[in-house]
Amino acid sequence: MTNQPDDDALKRSVSDHWEANAETWTKHVRAGYDIYRDALHTPAFLEMLPDVEGLNGLDVGCGEGANTRSLARASAKMTGIDIAPTFVRHALAQENQEPLGIHYLTADALHLPFDDAQFDFASAFMSMMDMPQQGDVLKEIFRILKPQGFFQFTILHPCFVPPFRKNVRNEDGQVIAVQVADYFVDIDGSVETWWFSNLPQAEREQSKPFNIPRFHRTLSEWIGMINMAGFTLEASVEPMASEELAAQEKVVADTRVTPIAWIVRLRKP
Ligand SMILES: C[S@@+](CC[C@H](N)C(=O)[O-])C[C@H]1O[C@@H](n2cnc3c(N)ncnc32)[C@H](O)[C@@H]1O
Repeated sequence: MTNQPDDDALKRSVSDHWEANAETWTKHVRAGYDIYRDALHTPAFLEMLPDVEGLNGLDVGCGEGANTRSLARASAKMTGIDIAPTFVRHALAQENQEPLGIHYLTADALHLPFDDAQFDFASAFMSMMDMPQQGDVLKEIFRILKPQGFFQFTILHPCFVPPFRKNVRNEDGQVIAVQVADYFVDIDGSVETWWFSNLPQAEREQSKPFNIPRFHRTLSEWIGMINMAGFTLEASVEPMASEELAAQEKVVADTRVTPIAWIVRLRKP
């Protein structure tokens, strides 16, 4: 494992990159361009979620807050934290416009500004693979959870979205296989550059792509870090688009070949 506890430059690079992405990211997700998230991954996450009515929840790496709002609408009392102040500003503006009782603050998941055992549950939607020192982040989340509390998170699937992934298509353009490589390359902050797949050309010409530092870990490393933090792995889902959804939203059809996301729920004993 290549976690580097003292690498302040790496941590700065993560917050600087996300701060630089935040304005365009907010605009694009609110315009509905994150199809995987909206059509497949968030619905699967919510379907897997235990009843959170009345529970105190913390959303780690909340971004502009769309998923934090989903949890608040499921009647949880939510707090959202993110390392990028611009995301927190947009999340707060939305909260002021449509109050759901969510508290937001700018914070690093590695140093959560909360007392021990303060939350009934925590969530993290597609943020854990974007952070360095995930083993320490897991310990920090374990610390702020009450006994019997749970942490449910989703990440890019360690096996099927390693640093290299490419769809193989037939002559009709349908995805029939997926090439993956570099699974064992322990990347620690390499910057990946991309747009949402279905971003219209006109919008592409006007915006800079996202630059996202990536911290890929193998499946075994994730399971090792989960165990080291003290959690029990309670449930796991690998979302696959239904035939209907794949026909309706062609972008997500590749999840019928291999998943893009891994959703897990961990329990603090
Ligand atoms: C892919 S975005 C996901 C945003 C949001 N959860 C969603 O589902 O739309 C990853 C988020 O993780 C945040 N992030 C990355 N490293 C972080 C850290 N160390 N502490 C808190 N947030 C972090 C980024 O700023 C970004 O908002």
